[in-house]
Amino acid sequence: MNPMIASQKINYQTHDYLVSVNGNIMNASDAKVSIMDRGFLFGDSVYDVFFCYKKMPVFFYEHLDRLYQSAQRIDLPMNFDRKQLIYSIKELVAKNPFEESFMRIVVTRGENEMGLAPQSYHEVQNTIVLYLKKFHMPTEWMSEGVDFKISTFERNSKKAMDPMNKTGNYLNSQLALNEAKKENYHDAIMLNAKGEITEGTTNNFWIVQQNGNVVTPDLKSGLLRGITREKIFEIAKALNISIEEKILYPSDIESASESFYTSATKGIVPITKINHLPIGSGKPGNITKQLMKGYEDLVQKYIRSFSWSD
Ligand SMILES: Cc1ncc(COP(=O)(O)O)c(C=O)c1O
Repeated sequence: MNPMIASQKINYQTHDYLVSVNGNIMNASDAKVSIMDRGFLFGDSVYDVFFCYKKMPVFFYEHLDRLYQSAQRIDLPMNFDRKQLIYSIKELVAKNPFEESFMRIVVTRGENEMGLAPQSYHEVQNTIVLYLKKFHMPTEWMSEGVDFKISTFERNSKKAMDPMNKTGNYLNSQLALNEAKKENYHDAIMLNAKGEITEGTTNNFWIVQQNGNVVTPDLKSGLLRGITREKIFEIAKALNISIEEKILYPSDIESASESFYTSATKGIVPITKINHLPIGSGKPGNITKQLMKGYEDLVQKYIRSFSWSD
């Protein structure tokens, strides 16, 4: 046997996943997609991720709608029945063996000639892969907070690869996260070419100012419109906490009293240090804690009233 093939080993725990490929549920180690798939060749795909709370999908339709918006924004036809996709997701959720998990929905432009823009570019038969992944978040992230680096990697420009589109090309984030991890940071914040703060590698960034205002970078700076980010606006308004989007710079962090990040899988996580320097008291702040509680309540309320529809 070719020694290159003989030495191949799988670098993940296959039992932490249950997947569905084009509607067929299987173990991750049995799942295959074509080498001619454009998702594999070019990152020509979109994806979205929702959290499962007690095995139930959280803010599911918001994530599904964003998946369709991402596809539209990169001119990727979704040539399948939305009801059928929901049915496949529902089927996988019904078999969810994990107490804590999230689901990643990937839709690629499918198999085609290897060229960047082949003639049949728009005659797409999508590849659809659903990954249900066991997930447990270390509790000390919530109780102690985490340390972020200001990345040396700039966020993709809106005019090049708009971060608003959740595509299968995450190299920009991957490079920034890898750099941060090598230096013992939890994650990194990326700035745009103008030096404005955009977002974390897979999350949205927030500060609380000395006057109690909660602030997050304006979408104009070039970032993903996080579903959790949207929910934070709802929660803050209900709690009478003042909240706004604003162009932010690293100097705004120095004067902040609290900071946190948000994402569907992790909810709200306090950031207590940036570049190894403490923010405010260096402990998770009161406003952050109020929002964490508000978010937990909102998730539970959502789950109680969740039902599948088309
Ligand atoms: C680049 C980026 N920004 C922000 C987020 C947070 O978005 P959400 O709250 O919808 O998970 C994510 C996660 O999907 C992301 O990948």
